[in-house]
This record gives sequence, structure tokens and C-alpha cells, in this order.
Amino acid sequence: MAFTLSDEPTHDELNTYSIDKLRAYYASKASNNDTVSAGFIPPTVDGVRRRTVDRFGGLAVMSIEDYQGILQGFLVGLVGARRILEIGTFTGTSAIYFANALKRNGVKGGVDETGHKPIISLDISEEFAEIARQNFVEAGVDDYIEVIVGDANKTLASLSNMTFDLIFVDADKDSYRNYYETLIDNGMLTKQGLFIFDNTAFDRVILFVEATVPVSSEAKPLDVPSTERLISAKTAIALHEFNEHIRKDPRTEVIMLPLYTGITLVRLTK
Ligand SMILES: C[S@@+](CC[C@H](N)C(=O)[O-])C[C@H]1O[C@@H](n2cnc3c(N)ncnc32)[C@H](O)[C@@H]1O
Repeated sequence: MAFTLSDEPTHDELNTYSIDKLRAYYASKASNNDTVSAGFIPPTVDGVRRRTVDRFGGLAVMSIEDYQGILQGFLVGLVGARRILEIGTFTGTSAIYFANALKRNGVKGGVDETGHKPIISLDISEEFAEIARQNFVEAGVDDYIEVIVGDANKTLASLSNMTFDLIFVDADKDSYRNYYETLIDNGMLTKQGLFIFDNTAFDRVILFVEATVPVSSEAKPLDVPSTERLISAKTAIALHEFNEHIRKDPRTEVIMLPLYTGITLVRLTK
């Protein structure tokens, strides 16, 4: 099918397109993968979202967005992942995207010789874990995901003899550095594996920006009311230190994607 534009649009005309239209375009073209792109939001995840909003209201923003879920599913395919560790389950959205992606990789569900399912997801909250487990059943992926409840800083020790092809870190931001060090020191990421750290440019972290960024004269440097900020100054400092730490670590290659509140991909170089 041939597409034509009747006239070459002017810059002014192009500028009338809102960012929402651009986002809608991204959404409609997000993926050609049938499993994830039917109507953009997979029905299973859609149900999880509705139930999460009904029960937790504003807290539902903790779930990853669909575009991120699709991206992360793509990365599962890229690294050929067979085993995934997730730190931060909440009600299960990101884990469901991972499970669907593992299915596409041909990974079978169920407990294997390690005594675990292909995705191990950690959360400190028994309440969230229980809701997530129900959501996994409804999404038809409960064979793929097990949730271990407890402080992940402690749970990781009990998993230290295992390896994972993809590790998604989306829990307490103050612990990111500890998670990173523990996982690398114990060799828990496979050689070709991938870390995904979520929210690495979260909220107050932008106060640490040192470079002069050219912005319009009307722009305010930090236009977020303090009551709406989601993380404390202490957490922002921990995240900033984490970002600095990994940038200088010769063991890894790092790229921070400017998506949402920052998604950092890390792979081993040694
Ligand atoms: C941002 S939410 C995770 C969202 C989830 N990945 C999704 O997309 O739906 C963060 C989760 O980390 C959990 N959490 C916070 N501190 C933790 C800790 N020390 N150990 C394990 N889980 C923790 C919280 O209970 C919460 O469910």
C-alpha cells in the first residue's frame, strides 16, 4: 500500500501535533508481535491493571507501563533468556510480560532441576505476592513465575548459587547498589545476560544535574510540587550514587535509556 502526503507539511503544522498523538502513534506501532500487540495492551495485563487501580488507586503507578513491558519482552528475546530474576513483583505486570516473552523463546513452564520455575520474582509484601499469584493464574502464566516473599537483600543470599539471563530490578531504590554488587559478586548474571534497572532517573535525582541544558526561557528548572514527589532525598542520593558507581565500574557496560523515569541497561564486559 502506497502512502502519500498531499503537501509537504510546514514546521508550524508539524508542531501542532501533540505529544499524546505521538505516543498514540508509538503505541499503535509498538510491536508486530501478535502476543503483545493485539490492541496494544494484552488482555491479561489489562485485567491486572484494572484490578490494581481498583484496589490500590494511585499506587498503581508502580506497575510498569505497556510500552516498557513490550520493550522488556523484546530484550528477553534478544538475550535468548531462559531464566529471569525480578526484584519487585507488586501485582505482577512486568512478570506477566516476561512470562509471555519466555513462552515466545520456547521456554517451558513448571519447576525444573533447580527446583524453581523460569521466573523468580521477589517482593517484601505478602499481600502483593498473593495478589500477583492470583493474577498469574488468571493470565495463564502461573507455571512460569514463582514469588518469594521477604526482603530481597536477604532472599538473594538463598539464591546465590543460581544464574539468570535477565535480571530486572524494580524494588527499593536505596538497595540498588547492594543488589548490583551482590548479583555480580555471586556471578548470578550469565555472561551474555542483561540487567534492567528501573526508575534510575526518578524524581529528585534530576537535582543532581550538573550540565547546563539549553531550555526555553519559560521553562522552570524543577516544576514538580514537593508534595507530589514520590521518593525522599535520601533515596535520590542513593540512586544518584548508584548511577555514578556503575558508570565507573570496569566490569560492566551501561546505557541509561531516557524513557519514563530512566531505564538503565547493564551488561557484563568481564
Ligand atoms: C515499583 S513496584 C514493582 C512493580 C512491578 N515490577 C510491576 O511492574 O508491576 C516495587 C515493589 O518492590 C517491593 N519492595 C520494596 N522493598 C523491597 C525489598 N527490600 N525487598 C523486596 N521487595 C521490595 C514493593 O513491595 C513493591 O511491590
